[in-house]
Amino acid sequence: MTDIVRLGVVGAGSISVRGILPHLSMDDVQDRVRLTAVCDPAPGRAQAAGVRFNIPNAYETYEELLASGTCDAITIASPIGLHYEQGKAAIDAGLHVHFNKTMTTTVDEADDLIERAQKKGVKLVSCPGQMLRPMFQRYRELIHEGALGHLTWAVTGAAFGNYHENERVRGGDDPLSNINPAWYFRRPGGGPLYDMTVYGMHALTGILGPVKRVTAMSGVRIHEREFRGEMLPTDMDDNTFMVLDFGDNLYAVAYGAAAGGIPGAWSPTFFGTKGVLRDGKLNEEAIDYPGRDLEEQYKNMNASLPHVVGPHREVEEAHVYEDIMQLVDWIREGKPTISTAEHARHVIEIFDAAYRAAASGQAQTLRTTF
Ligand SMILES: NC(=O)c1ccc[n+]([C@@H]2O[C@H](COP(=O)([O-])OP(=O)(O)OC[C@H]3O[C@@H](n4cnc5c(N)ncnc54)[C@H](O)[C@@H]3O)[C@@H](O)[C@H]2O)c1
Repeated sequence: MTDIVRLGVVGAGSISVRGILPHLSMDDVQDRVRLTAVCDPAPGRAQAAGVRFNIPNAYETYEELLASGTCDAITIASPIGLHYEQGKAAIDAGLHVHFNKTMTTTVDEADDLIERAQKKGVKLVSCPGQMLRPMFQRYRELIHEGALGHLTWAVTGAAFGNYHENERVRGGDDPLSNINPAWYFRRPGGGPLYDMTVYGMHALTGILGPVKRVTAMSGVRIHEREFRGEMLPTDMDDNTFMVLDFGDNLYAVAYGAAAGGIPGAWSPTFFGTKGVLRDGKLNEEAIDYPGRDLEEQYKNMNASLPHVVGPHREVEEAHVYEDIMQLVDWIREGKPTISTAEHARHVIEIFDAAYRAAASGQAQTLRTTF
């Protein structure tokens, strides 16, 4: 058993201010993990986060945080286009890494991080750990037990809408509330797939297993977006529609749309010869799984996650806290997580392949599994 894990937070933007820092500064986790450092290049933001959340070291650059020797592990909460280089530098410095959602934008980069981490003996966890949810574990059992008869197809997806422009930490005047979301619409790392569709894709593949082939159409639908009177240009595809082949003519449709979507589609729907599994219901009848009562009591799907106990059930973005605690347990107790970097790499390959398929007009055969 290692002692308390010293955790650095890279980027003090929306997910850090609303989720990571509130959860990890609560009393009940101090025996396992301690916030020791934060960095952010926006003037005054890291310092302000340090003061609000009682973090002893605040830096304007990532390089200073890495060189400080104050961390055993980091959680990367910067824009997705930076994750690969930042992850690589942390692994090379011997730190364990948690990535807030997608860890790289290409499968080759994901290969590189996994290989480096193995050589260095450090651990990687990449959000979102959707298969930690008891509902998706039960979906998998039901499908494998034949509750849907012959499975025929599935659908999942998510849409940008104006979600990121309207988050409550973007409309204020101080460094912790005036956070600009422009990167969500820019290359590399922007677009709804890496940030939003990634939830449904982790669940879909966690339940059905790896995808074999992908084809897609993709492009920019909304060329600029207004944010606080400024026009933010979109140069990354914001409207991507995919068809996935799981083999033996089992298909799924998946999307990351600029706006609008199928209600509840962040959680996949499965269709078969005996009916439909969606929204926690088999043929419109609620299915049973551990923690369903807690989800209903707190009106929050995160309430059934293993580390989301007591006051964590009422704090935003508890699933991110769950994924960080998966890494903490792994470091302290040697207890590996089911939220593996290999699963994350497969999801990244699906998105990477979808963009290649859309650009070339050719279906892409995938090479990774998990
Ligand atoms: N916003 C959400 O709802 C949400 C939820 C879960 C996960 N995430 C994920 O968390 C990550 C961050 O998203 P966000 O919404 O907090 O973004 P954000 O734009 O609100 O914040 C990003 C922060 O990173 C900082 N930053 C920029 N360059 C940096 C660098 N070189 N080093 C360190 N920090 C740097 C920015 O100044 C900003 O403060 C993304 O991967 C996103 O997909 C976001």
